[in-house]
Amino acid sequence: MKLLIINGSRNPSGQTGSAAAALADGARSAQCDVEMVLLPELKIERCRQCNAQGWGLCNQQKGCVIEDDFAALAEKVGSADVLAFASPVYYGDLSESLRAFLDRLRRICTFEKNNGIKGKAALGICVAGGGGGGATRCAASLEWALTTTGFDVIDMIPARRQNLEMKRELLRTVGAWLAEKPSSA
Ligand SMILES: Cc1cc2nc3c(=O)[nH]c(=O)nc-3n(C[C@H](O)[C@H](O)[C@H](O)COP(=O)(O)O)c2cc1C
Repeated sequence: MKLLIINGSRNPSGQTGSAAAALADGARSAQCDVEMVLLPELKIERCRQCNAQGWGLCNQQKGCVIEDDFAALAEKVGSADVLAFASPVYYGDLSESLRAFLDRLRRICTFEKNNGIKGKAALGICVAGGGGGGATRCAASLEWALTTTGFDVIDMIPARRQNLEMKRELLRTVGAWLAEKPSSA
């Protein structure tokens, strides 16, 4: 079983990173193969909404026309058994790097019916590391982005600075559980 964790924070050992690491620890404890990707380290442009109608060229051709790190990561998503998307909470919403990636992933999934992503199990983690507000708002935003991309959203885990230690414990349990039940089916 392969778990791919995509982290929209730029700090691998920050609060979101620690939540992602707890999920990874739990999954590895159940013999799951885990890969972590730190999105801000990759070059992923925002969607260009290529043509006047806004439907873009991915409507007519396979994949996205922009030549950057997007295609390779989208392929990794397609080959993982289960996905986790982690975001620091910015303004009660997703980080810009995760937004840019998911905006483009949703676009190609609208047109490439057999890209291996539709129906794949995914969960979200949103960490409000400042005052602690906006984690559930961010979770709602992430849940909608994942749903409209075609994922089977099996859980959303909001966390805030004040409860992060408890949520890390929960994430270890969820990681081990994911290794056994990669899909909600
Ligand atoms: C632009 C920006 C907006 C932020 N908005 C919020 C917010 O709405 N609520 C909150 O609790 N923290 C907010 N924070 C704090 C981040 O959630 C916190 O820095 C982050 O969880 C910690 O970053 P890390 O997880 O990458 O270590 C914001 C931080 C930045 C940089």
